[in-house]
Amino acid sequence: VTQPSFPSPTIGVFDSGFGGLTVLRALIARAPQARYAFIGDTARLPYGSKSRRTIARYAAQSARFLVEEQGADYLVIACNTASALALDDIKEAVPSSVSVIGVIEPGADAAHAASTTRDVLVIATDATVRSHAYAAACQARGLRALEKACPLLVPLVEEGWVTSTLNDPLPAQAAPAPRPLAVTAEVVRIYLDELLADAASQGLNPDTLVLGCTHYPLLKPVIERALPPGTKIIDSAESTAHQQVMLLCRDLAPPPQATETDPVLRFFATDSVEKFERLGSRFLGRPVGNVQLVDLGG
Ligand code: DGL
Repeated sequence: VTQPSFPSPTIGVFDSGFGGLTVLRALIARAPQARYAFIGDTARLPYGSKSRRTIARYAAQSARFLVEEQGADYLVIACNTASALALDDIKEAVPSSVSVIGVIEPGADAAHAASTTRDVLVIATDATVRSHAYAAACQARGLRALEKACPLLVPLVEEGWVTSTLNDPLPAQAAPAPRPLAVTAEVVRIYLDELLADAASQGLNPDTLVLGCTHYPLLKPVIERALPPGTKIIDSAESTAHQQVMLLCRDLAPPPQATETDPVLRFFATDSVEKFERLGSRFLGRPVGNVQLVDLGG
């Protein structure tokens, strides 16, 4: 792995796979002049079905790679599962001078700002839900949160059974959806119907849904359609990028200015570089090239 040649500040972004590219996309939109190094631990995906200990070990290795080998001054943990279960382990794995930001707190902040009924729904991976990190973060802000694990959604997104890009419109309500998208829409509807029924039986009146997994922004159009009209959807990728850029602006003087130049992007993956380049562009909304394969150990 080549040593970085670019000066500080560098923002290291980490995810178990491609989903975190939605966070990188939001970061680039806000701070195009920053330098970014992104690693997707694709060889060990999914994290969402693994134990806390394993997730913490994997996440700490990626964090160290970004700091020690790529010179990251800031770390964005663009994975809800790693943020929910291993944020403290990640902070311990890197020098205290490195600012580490996860996706849970920014997501809960955004839910707090959006909800008027004070009841929110959260969909996430199994491990994130079992940690109850969102419920705790919401409770600390005076919100009641009902969480639901949706383990089938990550594989559907990874398979590309989504609208072809983040901003593609869905087919009109009356028009038949392409079959893969129809399957995804049905799975989403089943999960959300169950969640809404649970909420009703517990006397909750939710007006906000948090996308507690960085893969889910690619499902936003189908999720929107399966919710009662007017439900606000919180994309923790967007909220995190916003918070990270606020942090950058606070730490740096003068604050970064927007430029016309292309952002400096470096991509790393622990498994198939070809798949990362092919699928990654859907998440990032721009071509993903020159992905380097890295071995983080066991
Ligand atoms: N990136 C993970 C998250 O945001 C989902 C994928 C996985 O299970 O590793 O929770």
